Order: sequence, then structure tokens, then C-alpha cells
Amino acid sequence: MGSFSRREHANKFHTTMIQKIENLIAQVNQFSATSAAEIEEFRIRILGKKGELNALLEEFKTVPAEQKRELGQKINALKTLATERINNLKASASAAPSRTTAIDDMTRPATDESLGGRHPVSLVKNQICEIFGRLGYTIADGPEIEDDWHVFSALNFPPEHPARDMQDTFFIEKNPDILLRTHTSSIQTRIMEHGQPPIRVVCPGRVFRNEAISYRAHCIFHQVEGLYIDENVSFADLKQALLYFAKEMFGESSKIRLRPSYFPFTEPSGEVDVSCNLCGGKGCAVCKGTGWLEIMGCGMVDPNVLEACGIDSKKYSGFAFGMGVERIAMLKYGVKDLRLYFENDVRFLHQFDKAL
Ligand code: PHE
Repeated sequence: MGSFSRREHANKFHTTMIQKIENLIAQVNQFSATSAAEIEEFRIRILGKKGELNALLEEFKTVPAEQKRELGQKINALKTLATERINNLKASASAAPSRTTAIDDMTRPATDESLGGRHPVSLVKNQICEIFGRLGYTIADGPEIEDDWHVFSALNFPPEHPARDMQDTFFIEKNPDILLRTHTSSIQTRIMEHGQPPIRVVCPGRVFRNEAISYRAHCIFHQVEGLYIDENVSFADLKQALLYFAKEMFGESSKIRLRPSYFPFTEPSGEVDVSCNLCGGKGCAVCKGTGWLEIMGCGMVDPNVLEACGIDSKKYSGFAFGMGVERIAMLKYGVKDLRLYFENDVRFLHQFDKAL
């Protein structure tokens, strides 16, 4: 009664299995995920030991012989489709590991990200500013594209004066008054024009000169210059400030010496040498056997400069100094070629993360 004939039973069996397979094919085609964990979960559900495919194969054992061929082909097609789809999704998930992949499992160790560091020029520039900061100097900034007045004329370089050859720069053809600053003394001009003493500033920044590039010269480099103007500022104050700087930068046992020099904006002017920190003053290849390394220029601000900037030179006096940041860093860390600072090779740059 009411029971299926053998054939009817077999047909019913056939249709439900076909439906199941087609349903799974649709699921595989629709499945999409970017996280490796989700893809793996899907793989286990379809292809895993206790997954849908193995359940079908179990059922397949009981399928009547005449239906085995058709159903077998369909099951195989499902297996190939699911394997390919899962492999493709896995490949694209690992090619573009997304943030969500990492966040899915909070217990996974963090990925090893290489951190950037500060450039040695910035590190040494900050160190110089910080040392003078302890003496009460504040930091002043100014434009890199300047005019003739702030770079040269106000600083006592008359037009056509040969001193301008010491600092040849880049001009703009259309307007020869516009140029790239050759020193950050131009910031000092602006500070003096806009305020009255006491003035005590350091001026860090990038400067430009028409120089052929070599291991010791570049058309772009960085400076920190300083300016101190008040009543009764003397050469002794200058010498003491520079000695303090040398000891802080190169070590407590450092000495300095001053040699007469010439700059249009200071009178008298000097070059500052520090005792060689590599040989302790005995003489080596770096200091060329002299025991001394030149680190900066300095001098008492020329009264003409004070007057050009609106400061009463009878009441006030002051000193100025200026140094190249790359040079200080080269001397301190024994860097032999200036060009290394501009090549941005991380193997060179990373050494300074540890040194400073
Ligand atoms: N401005 C000078 C230069 O760039 C350095 C300097 C600054 C010298 C202040 C003396 C006083 O060469």
C-alpha cells in the first residue's frame, strides 16, 4: 500500500540528489570573501571531511547503478568548481592582505612593519637648536625663495662686490631680484627688521649655492645660524657661547680656537675650529694631521648691518655665527661623503636612528 515502486523510488532519489548538487553549485558560485578565515570556513563546510561533498559521496554509494554515471559526473563537477573557486579566493586574499584579515584573529602576532626614522640632517639640526635653546635662543624660520635685499644688500654685500662670489646662487631670469637664499642669515635680516633687541635666535633651514656636487660640496645643504643682539654684547660672550656648543655637541673635553676671517656682515670675523674628536687633537686623516676641524663662521655684527635693519648701532651690539648641518653631522659621525645624505639609502639612514 501506498509504497513507491522500485523505479519510482529510484527517480525520487535521483531528483533530490540533483537538486542538492545544483544548490551547492549555486552556493559555490555565489560565495565570495576576502578574509582567509572565512574562505577556510567555507572550504571545510563544502570539501572538509564531514562536509557536503563527502555526504553526497556517502549517499552516492546507494544510488542505483544506472544513475551512477550522471550523478557521478555532477558530483565531480561540483568538486572541481569548489576547489578552483576556493583556491582563487585564497590566492587573492594572500596577495592583498587586508586589515580585516589581521583583525579577524586578535591573537596573531603583529606583522613586522619597518618604521621610518628621522633623517640624520634633521636629527643633528634639532640637536644644534636644542643646545642653543638651553642658552635661551628661540627658533626663527624664513622663506627659501628670497630677494637680494635680505640675502645680500642688507647684510653689507654691496652690488658687484667680490664678496658675492663666495656665495653664488640661483637666480630667476625674469626677475634678478628673486633668488634662492645662500645662507639663513636672510632670516636674521627679517628678525632685525621686525623687532628690537634683545634678540636671541637660531635660524635653521635649507640653503642653495651654485656649487659643483662632490663628496664635500652640494648645491643644496642645511644651516643653523645664530644671532644675539643686546646692550654690551662682546666678543667674549661669542666665544663662550661657541665653547658651550662645542662641548655639548662633540664632548666635554672639546676645545675651540678662532682664526681671523672675512664676512661682509661681521667685523671682526672668525672661523671656528673644534679639537678633532676622533684623534683627541693628536692629528689624524680626518683633521689632516692638524688636530682641528673647522665647524663654522662667526663674528660681531657689523654696525652697517644693524643700521640697515633699523637697530641703533650706538646702543646695541651683537654677534652672529653660522654652520653647515651636514658638515657637523659628518664630523661627529665620520661620514666621508656628503652625497650620502641626499641618496636616501635606508641602510645609511637607519644607522642614525641608533646613534642618536
Ligand atoms: N652666513 C655665513 C655663511 O653662510 C656664515 C656666518 C654666519 C658667518 C654668521 C659669520 C656670521 O657662510
